[in-house]
Amino acid sequence: MREQLEALKVESLTKLSAASSVEELEAVRVQTLGKKGDLTKILRGLGKVDPKERPKLGVLANEIKVEFNQALEAQQSVLKKSAMEARLKEEQIDITLPGRSPAIGSIHPISRALDELTTIFTHMGFPPATGPEVENDWYNFGALNIPADHPAREMHDTFYLPPAHDGGKRVLRTHTSSVQVHFMENRQPPIRMIAPGKVFRCDSDITHTPMFHQIEGVLVDEGVNFGQLKGLIETFLHRFFERELPVRFRPSFFPFTEPSAEADMGCIFCDAKGCRICKNTGWIEILGCGMIHPNVLKNVDIDTEKYSGFAFGMGVERLAMLKYGINDLRTFFENDLRFLQRHATVGGE
Ligand code: FA5
Ligand code: MG
Repeated sequence: MREQLEALKVESLTKLSAASSVEELEAVRVQTLGKKGDLTKILRGLGKVDPKERPKLGVLANEIKVEFNQALEAQQSVLKKSAMEARLKEEQIDITLPGRSPAIGSIHPISRALDELTTIFTHMGFPPATGPEVENDWYNFGALNIPADHPAREMHDTFYLPPAHDGGKRVLRTHTSSVQVHFMENRQPPIRMIAPGKVFRCDSDITHTPMFHQIEGVLVDEGVNFGQLKGLIETFLHRFFERELPVRFRPSFFPFTEPSAEADMGCIFCDAKGCRICKNTGWIEILGCGMIHPNVLKNVDIDTEKYSGFAFGMGVERLAMLKYGINDLRTFFENDLRFLQRHATVGGE
């Protein structure tokens, strides 16, 4: 019996070390120490053994159990560890791989233009700011030097909303110039910011939609002048279009800037038959700009003796139509899938 026990010890330990999974280990354990296992079978013969020998064999059987269990535990932890390592290897994520494009959905050309424009201005030192789309009269008009009876309000085709609880007039903002006021009322120069966002006007044709996007830009500091404004806009347009395109500045009027100008870009849609988009003028208006009117600076407590500033407000749809060659502004908002697929970028590109 001693030989049988010694053989079982060698055999079972060999099987343990050969096992390659936690399941196999369990099978070896059941076969060796289980109720119907090999050790039990051998010990059944104990009755036939010389009684003097029995205690020694009992001790030996116990030693085998202890040794087997120790080896089992050690082998279990080795196998668990390597199983974990294999899993980690398999589930490893390669963060250097490019992202997968979604099966549906893509970035709308206006979002793409807004992202590009914001990036260019941020690099030029103009961080983005936001303001509310529902405004009261002061932010959209009053603070911008447009008093209640001023004819300039007519230019804006304003959507009026029911009055606020305190009876104050509320409007959907007609331009992002309202953000100038929010931004400047809590700050002192030097001030630099852009404000991209939605604006609303009761207006619709091939170059006008009732909701569109503007990007406002503001710089206030000592000694700011119109030449710097012009240089900034030309540099920015060059970066956005990645090529030289004809741009012209023409004198204009805004109550909140003096002097004021509008910038036009050469029309890319004209052909021999004439052009509905630029109405045969050869130019498409893209933005309004000027030196901030002293009344506006005074309304936000900025010292006009010491500081001057410029501001501009550009039409994002107009810029996008020129960059991507889209000849009707309204198609941006019709969500025709063919249009979106032609002009959209998929995520990650
Ligand atoms: C303004 O809205 C002024 N707040 C711009 C400004 C800001 C001037 C700061 C001076 C200083 P205007 O109404 O011209 O200006 O609109 C600016 C631009 O928005 C236009 O040049 C045009 O590109 C675009 N735009 C105007 N109306 C529409 C419309 N209905 N649909 C699409 N784009 C429009
Ligand atoms: Mg205009």
